[in-house]
Amino acid sequence: MSDAVRIVEVGPRDGLQNEKTAVSVADRIAFIEALIGAGLNPIEVGAFVSPKAIPQMVGSAEVLRGVSGHTGTEFHVLVPNEKGYEASQAAGARAIAVFAAASEGFSRANINCTVAESIERFKPVLARAKAGGIKVRGYISCVLGCPYDGEIKPQAVVDVARTLFDLGCYEISLGDTIGVGTPAKARQLLRAVAGEVPMPKLAMHFHDTYGQALANLYAGMEEGCRVIDSAAGGLGGCPYAPGATGNVATEDVVYMLEGMGIRTGVDMAKLVAATNTISRLIGRPPLSRVASALNAKARNS
Ligand code: HMG
Ligand code: MG
Repeated sequence: MSDAVRIVEVGPRDGLQNEKTAVSVADRIAFIEALIGAGLNPIEVGAFVSPKAIPQMVGSAEVLRGVSGHTGTEFHVLVPNEKGYEASQAAGARAIAVFAAASEGFSRANINCTVAESIERFKPVLARAKAGGIKVRGYISCVLGCPYDGEIKPQAVVDVARTLFDLGCYEISLGDTIGVGTPAKARQLLRAVAGEVPMPKLAMHFHDTYGQALANLYAGMEEGCRVIDSAAGGLGGCPYAPGATGNVATEDVVYMLEGMGIRTGVDMAKLVAATNTISRLIGRPPLSRVASALNAKARNS
């Protein structure tokens, strides 16, 4: 398992969307610039969603414009509908992500429509993006369990993945939104989805609520998946996924990959510094085990 892995940093979006403390546009830009400095690319920086649904993402246009000078970095933003698409384009987005769910309960709670209706909303977004040369990623939430509907059959994920891929998403990110998955289930899911969408087009977006995310990623890598979503400091969660905690921490992913001989190009010291700064701003210590260990080591040396 030594071939390259692509890390998609989602901290400035998934990481901050669930925080009680609002982070200012200037501080979000500084966080993203620190992540760029640490070598992360691409980075998900915001969401063009209803300000009532996710007030933390208000100002995403200013954030995107604020980092646009970093032309070597690809910036992703979430878009739920045509209104969001138009706002993303006015702000200069070149890469967007639509987000569906494998379960009806989460779809209704998160984006106020059925899974089928969400696909209908995405169709014009994908058509306009294709015409405009904009890259579109497709997320599927609750792939290993739903806070409303419980267990999710792999076939439900396969169907949505196939649909999003056929509509033109260049990559399908499989979200264990509430972090309930275990390695055997993650493996089974990846196998099932890879039967319909080529493995190089799949990404793993695992939250770490039950402490299984790294093990699940390792199992997914053994299946051949090479794209990992993670958030600096283990930030993250979704207000519509009760009880869910952060994404797998980027520091922990980088530490594991480097330990496996897989070069990530990420500067760990700079990444931990970025995490420490954002953690101070939101007023709680990082969830990342590696960041905590390195911080303790620095204090004791
Ligand atoms: P709705 O209420 O059904 O939408 O919400 P609507 O079309 O009826 O519009 C209602 C209001 O929202 C209107 O404003 C619209 O203008 C406005 P009002 O007249 O009441 O003042 N509106 C918008 N405003 C800004 N940007 C927009 C937009 N669209 C409508 N794009 C909607 C439907 C999808 C808009 C709403 O439910 C929403 O924004 N949901 C977003 C939820 C969200 O962002 N969740 C977190 C991200 S997903 C996630 O974290 C999971 C992931 O990480 C993967 C994983 O872990 O599984 C990706
Ligand atoms: Mg997420």
